[in-house]
Amino acid sequence: MVSIRPIWISVAILALFVTGCGEGSSDGGPATPADGGVDVAPADALSPDAPTPEDTADDTTSDLGTETAPDVNSDATPDIEEPAGPIMIQAEVTWSGWSAEVRPAPAVFALETSSGLFLQDGEGALSLVDPENFESPLEGEVGMLDAGADFGPSGSLLASEEGLMGFVEGQLAQSPLDEHITESVQVMAYDTATDQLWLSTGSSLLLHEGGALYDIEPDGLPTGPAHLAYGGAVDGVPSVWIASATSIYALSGAGDELSVSAWVEGITALDLECDADGRVWASADGDLYRRAVDGTWDWLRLPSPVSQLAAHPSSGALWISTSDGLWRHEAGQFGPVDDAASGSWLTMNEAGEIIGSDTESVWRMGVGEEPLPPPPPTWTEDIEPISEASCILCHGPGALGADQMYLAAQWEERIDDILLVVSSGAMPLPPNPALDPAMIARIEGWKAAGFPE
Ligand code: HEC
Repeated sequence: MVSIRPIWISVAILALFVTGCGEGSSDGGPATPADGGVDVAPADALSPDAPTPEDTADDTTSDLGTETAPDVNSDATPDIEEPAGPIMIQAEVTWSGWSAEVRPAPAVFALETSSGLFLQDGEGALSLVDPENFESPLEGEVGMLDAGADFGPSGSLLASEEGLMGFVEGQLAQSPLDEHITESVQVMAYDTATDQLWLSTGSSLLLHEGGALYDIEPDGLPTGPAHLAYGGAVDGVPSVWIASATSIYALSGAGDELSVSAWVEGITALDLECDADGRVWASADGDLYRRAVDGTWDWLRLPSPVSQLAAHPSSGALWISTSDGLWRHEAGQFGPVDDAASGSWLTMNEAGEIIGSDTESVWRMGVGEEPLPPPPPTWTEDIEPISEASCILCHGPGALGADQMYLAAQWEERIDDILLVVSSGAMPLPPNPALDPAMIARIEGWKAAGFPE
């Protein structure tokens, strides 16, 4: 049974303004009182024959536990043979690693999004590094961040002990969802295809879908604090995977048709990840557990104990931290990584790279060919658009009372004056707004590269 309790109807996640109370409730108040019961699941659509976790636990004799079939239509017997013991994994390849500096200062939180890479340092200062590696500080008190999710072009969501913040159109603002969530959110998983946002707080599991927020209580299964990962398919349907206390299970389907399935009892996962090939990976007790797309679980043992894992639902790679160095799995092959960066992992991106930090810097790490650094700014691509948007009004061909400054040669000649006035905020004059730090960094980069056309 999955108890799905709507908490609030019609809540936007991202918005530049903070929704007032009246505004929020006009769309429908908290649904709980109307439902007449706290844990009642008005929208519970679980198939009656789905086994409970207790059933599963009873006939679990292997260390791995059994996975249960998601519903009556599929074969209700466990998907796996009981393993005799772990499969011993030997290195099949050696991955050649590379790492590149993102910035020369450490960070404690990172999230790669379509707007750029968010970085937060130990003092709480938050900044955004754009795809060309220019960093701009973000204003506002956000608190120390624990989790975040990317919503593509519409923005990103960040969670700290102070609440949920949306990043929309270059600005941070409290998310309207925030007032409906009392505890701080520690883990998030978002899937673009289904538009499902999963949130785990210290004690509960929440789903935001179709403008509504639900409190999810899979009967008898622990919900928080949990590891969440989106991907791994159950009967062909990508699902959210939850590792909590001693179980791993999946929730599949949408809104009021959620079903719990595929749970495994007896694994206290230290980490849980899904990769782009639909596999689910968990680390527990120094071993690695892998669920293949067909639902079979394998129990794997590497030469040295496994701790942390990192994967991304858009990448085929799995990074494995072991007590004897870094390993990686991709395209069916396991092996150690040469020249691994040291420090702690902060996040992983779609390209399969890890973003991490040591005490000196934030780095990006991958294997194979190191991607070329972004090309330097050019007049046509980067500088002329700034000149046209911010300066040409007064420094254009017909400039009156101000020097002409709209050609590359004129900018080159006055570059030091220009950098001085844009950095101090003396230019541009109103009505044009001040240049943001990433634009100024671009002008500096253009100068440093020798004024490329
Ligand atoms: C609204 C009109 C206006 C805009 C927009 C504007 N400027 Fe100016 N700028 C002026 C005027 C007028 C002067 C000359 C008088 C002065 O120095 O204040 C000037 C002077 C300057 C100077 C010479 C300063 C010195 O002391 O030598 C530089 C360099 C400059 N602008 C750069 C820029 C750049 C770069 C931009 C765009 C990012 C820009 N300005 C946008 C009106 C403008």
